[in-house]
Amino acid sequence: MRELSRIREEFLKELSRVRDLKELRELRSRYLGPKGVIKELLKRIKELPKEERPAFGQLVNELKEFVEENLKKREEELSREELERKLRSEWVELTVPPGRSLGALHPVTIVLNRIVDIFKSMGFEVEEGPEVEREDYNFDMLNIPPEHPARDMQDTFYVNKEGYLLRTHTSPVQIRTMLKKKPPIQMVAPGKVYRRDDDPTHSPMFHQVEGLVVNEWANFRHMKHVLESFLRTFFGKDLPVRFRASYFPFTEPSAEVDIGCVICEQRGCRVCKGTGWLEVLGCGMVHPKVLENCGIDPEIYQGFAFGMGVERLAMLLFGIDNIKLFYENDLRFIKQFV
Ligand code: PHE
Repeated sequence: MRELSRIREEFLKELSRVRDLKELRELRSRYLGPKGVIKELLKRIKELPKEERPAFGQLVNELKEFVEENLKKREEELSREELERKLRSEWVELTVPPGRSLGALHPVTIVLNRIVDIFKSMGFEVEEGPEVEREDYNFDMLNIPPEHPARDMQDTFYVNKEGYLLRTHTSPVQIRTMLKKKPPIQMVAPGKVYRRDDDPTHSPMFHQVEGLVVNEWANFRHMKHVLESFLRTFFGKDLPVRFRASYFPFTEPSAEVDIGCVICEQRGCRVCKGTGWLEVLGCGMVHPKVLENCGIDPEIYQGFAFGMGVERLAMLLFGIDNIKLFYENDLRFIKQFV
């Protein structure tokens, strides 16, 4: 009997050391298997005096039941633990967003869209033209004669095809639109332009948005209102705007438009060179010769046109002081304008 209670204690001790189902199976076969501890005990019944055998047999049976019961309990515990461990290791949290970062629009694209959207809201349509442009659309048809300094090799990128060049402005889209459509015309043309120019505020490639309105009544006052509304919407404040007499071969009269410096609020700074004013676009009434070149009768129709630099407006809107930052693709810069 003493031995039986020793076995029972030994079993409990071993059971408490079992860490997983595999160890539990080993323990079971050591106690309940064909050559196990219990089987060995039962074999020894024969060695006892006859009268003691039933009592001993009963005790061994009790021990066997005790072992079976405890093994079963521990088995249930261990299976539950193992299942939990498995669930935890295979757990996928479906509500967590994937760790992938989204792209962002380029600041030039953001500003281009902003400009075009404002004009669309005023009823302008969007037109496009090619970057490799016909020389006559870029110059002659716009009343820029062959000897005009703008055509100089210093300014223009010519391509290896007679009569073609990289457009130096978006104004040839005016010509394309007037050749294609009858007035009334009210369009903007965004796109890339190219000039042999390279310093902190000029890049050989940059973006412009062109505007053209042709109908029977367009006048300078109308143009002034459209451009003032545009600039105040674009900068989101009631800016001072002034029109300064200027010259373009394809408009007459012509003007350059200045806004009160958005950097220093007209106190005078490096960006406005102390003048308190920033030039932001060129404009004017479409020259009668240009209308005529496109088969539009200047006795019946008149129009106004304007052109602006997108990078210039982006630099002023975001306070960027070097145009090169737009083209270096440094993500630390690019990502700031989402
Ligand atoms: N094309 C001119 C430029 O690039 C801008 C402009 C467009 C001026 C339309 C007047 C009218 O400087």
